[in-house]
Amino acid sequence: MTQNNNTLSANPPFFDVVSQVRAMRRLKSDPVPLEFLRKVLEAGVQAPSGQNTQPWKFLVIHDPDEKAWFRERYANAIETRFGGFGQIAEDGDSKFARQIKAVKYQCDHMHEFPLILLVAGERDWPFKVAEKDRVGLAPPNYGAVYPCVQNILLACRSLGLGAALTTMHQVFEDELHAHFGIPDTYGVVVAIPIGWPMGNFGPVTRKPAAEKTFFNKWGNTDPGEWG
Ligand SMILES: Cc1cc2nc3c(=O)[nH]c(=O)nc-3n(C[C@H](O)[C@H](O)[C@H](O)COP(=O)(O)O)c2cc1C
Repeated sequence: MTQNNNTLSANPPFFDVVSQVRAMRRLKSDPVPLEFLRKVLEAGVQAPSGQNTQPWKFLVIHDPDEKAWFRERYANAIETRFGGFGQIAEDGDSKFARQIKAVKYQCDHMHEFPLILLVAGERDWPFKVAEKDRVGLAPPNYGAVYPCVQNILLACRSLGLGAALTTMHQVFEDELHAHFGIPDTYGVVVAIPIGWPMGNFGPVTRKPAAEKTFFNKWGNTDPGEWG
């Protein structure tokens, strides 16, 4: 079994890991040992949540037929929402075209990846929505689920596993609920295909924090007297 020489005790420095958590969309079909998955999920549940309610649940899809079911709907969602991948995937070498090619690869091969992890959040109205204004189902508790998801992505990277956050399942979420028996009290927030990556992790491309940071007043980039 190929594990890319990664071990469960892999412990790379945090600041290296956090700057290399890229969306890894090209994955091998080699299996991910259950103890690796457990380690990843244990990292997920260390996340904070309001009043420590821990409103997340995981659904791990590894059965080949179930993965194929998911893949078919996922591809259809991209087709109906974006009109498919079009020419851009075939030609062009812009950054966007390269990303689309990777998304297309992920879509075409998703059923071959070892597992697709669904992270669901218990539904909860945000404080600012008054009781009288509540209509339909509450949104899943995104605020708690995303820290959990980021822990999962960090843990995957630490163990040498590739993972990519996806959200297209929202297009067919009703069907998803019915097919997998997910109760209405939960919303599926993300679907994360996980496996051993084909490419290198490499650094992410992000603007520096200094370009996003103000001090004392919005728009003021000068930290002023410090300490
Ligand atoms: C809320 C959210 C939704 C996303 N949805 C998708 C998605 O549906 N499909 C996908 O392939 N990537 C998705 N991504 C991943 C982003 O496209 C990716 O993180 C971004 O382009 C930066 O690329 P990098 O992580 O490789 O640096 C999503 C990320 C976030 C945070």
